[in-house]
Order: sequence, then structure tokens, then C-alpha cells
Amino acid sequence: MDIRPARVEDLVGMQHCNLNNLPENYQLKYYLYHAISWPMLSYVATNPKGRIVGYVLAKMEEEPKDGIPHGHVTSLSVMRSYRQLGLAKRMMVQSQRAMVEVYGAKYMSLHVRKSNRAALHLYRDSLTFDVQGIESKYYADGEDAYAMHKDLGLPPVENDQNIELSNKLQCLAVH
Ligand code: ACO
Repeated sequence: MDIRPARVEDLVGMQHCNLNNLPENYQLKYYLYHAISWPMLSYVATNPKGRIVGYVLAKMEEEPKDGIPHGHVTSLSVMRSYRQLGLAKRMMVQSQRAMVEVYGAKYMSLHVRKSNRAALHLYRDSLTFDVQGIESKYYADGEDAYAMHKDLGLPPVENDQNIELSNKLQCLAVH
């Protein structure tokens, strides 16, 4: 499976993947807006036939309320038969790296349904996001969202060594 930056010709495939996997859907022009405005932040995963089997759609917050440059993951999904292969994690790490290197992001944020155990495992346990708070009735069906946040002051967490380093630095910061 290959992971590469999303191109304009991928947008229909990304939208198809989104429609298959999530109730939060977007018009094609919203995908285009992401791809044109922040070309290095969205990625696709393709199978050996070149079909899009996963995507991350991400952007920089344009007018951050706190004045701090930061990235935001608008949407992430992987087709059912390609899950648990590490694709989502790899796409998130790529996007995270570009947020820092290309746009100088200090942190990244996203929303996730409180009931979404798979995504919560990915964000909180694998990628070390923190829960910043709960946004009541965030979704159209009334479900609450966790507002999640990851500090990007450290190198992207890709292996146990980096997790250890991140934990040590956090301890030092507390003491
Ligand atoms: N239950 C528990 N843990 C899981 C599950 C699961 N169902 N799925 C993945 N994980 C864990 C993996 O074990 C792995 O953990 P590890 O790093 O400790 O080994 C970690 O999460 C990353 O797994 P990946 O293989 O990279 O994740 P995957 O490619 O399967 O994609 C995703 C995860 C995107 C949540 C997928 O299940 C999906 O598309 N779900 C439907 C759409 C969705 O919920 N998207 C997120 C919405 S929030 C948003 O868009 C901002």
C-alpha cells in the first residue's frame, strides 16, 4: 500500500471513501479548497491497483482564536477491508510532519465522536493526542465530540523511542 500527498485528481476518490465510511460528508469543492490551499497536508492511501482506500483531509486553521498557528484534521477514514494495517497512522504522521515543516504549526487539533473507539485508540493511544474538552451535541445527530489536541513541539511520534522521549520531556516540563 502506498501513501502519497493528495492530488486534485484524487478528490473524487477521497469523497467516495468518505461517503462509505463516515456520516460527516462534504461537497467536492470543500476537498478542492483543502487541496489547493494546503497541498502538503492531505494524503491518500492507494492499493496496488491505484484505487484510493484511505485519506486524511487536513488544513491549517486560518484565523486561530489563540493566535497560534495550528493544523486541523477535517476528516480521516480507511476502507473497511484495509483497516488495522497502519494506514491511518501513517497518513496522520505524514500530515503532522508537513504541518510543522511547511506551515510552522505548533499543535494540531481534531474532533471525534465520543463513541468512536477505533479512532480514539488511534488518536489518544497511538498518536498521543490529549482530550482538551467535550463539545456538547457537536454532531448533527446530537452526539458529543471530544476536542483533541496534540502538541507539535516534538518530533512526530513514530516509534517507541519517540514515545519514551516525549514522556521524559513532559515529565521534565511538569517538574
Ligand atoms: N479498535 C481498537 N484499536 C484500533 C481499531 C479498533 N477497531 N482500529 C485501529 N486501532 C488501533 C490499531 O491497533 C493501531 O494501534 P497501535 O498503533 O497501538 O498498533 C492504531 O489504532 C492505528 O491503527 P491503523 O491501522 O493506523 O488505523 P486504520 O488504518 O485501521 O484506521 C480509522 C483507523 C481511520 C479510525 C478507521 O477505523 C476508520 O476509517 N473508521 C471509520 C471512519 C472514522 O471513524 N474516522 C475517524 C473519524 S474522526 C475524524 O475524521 C477527525
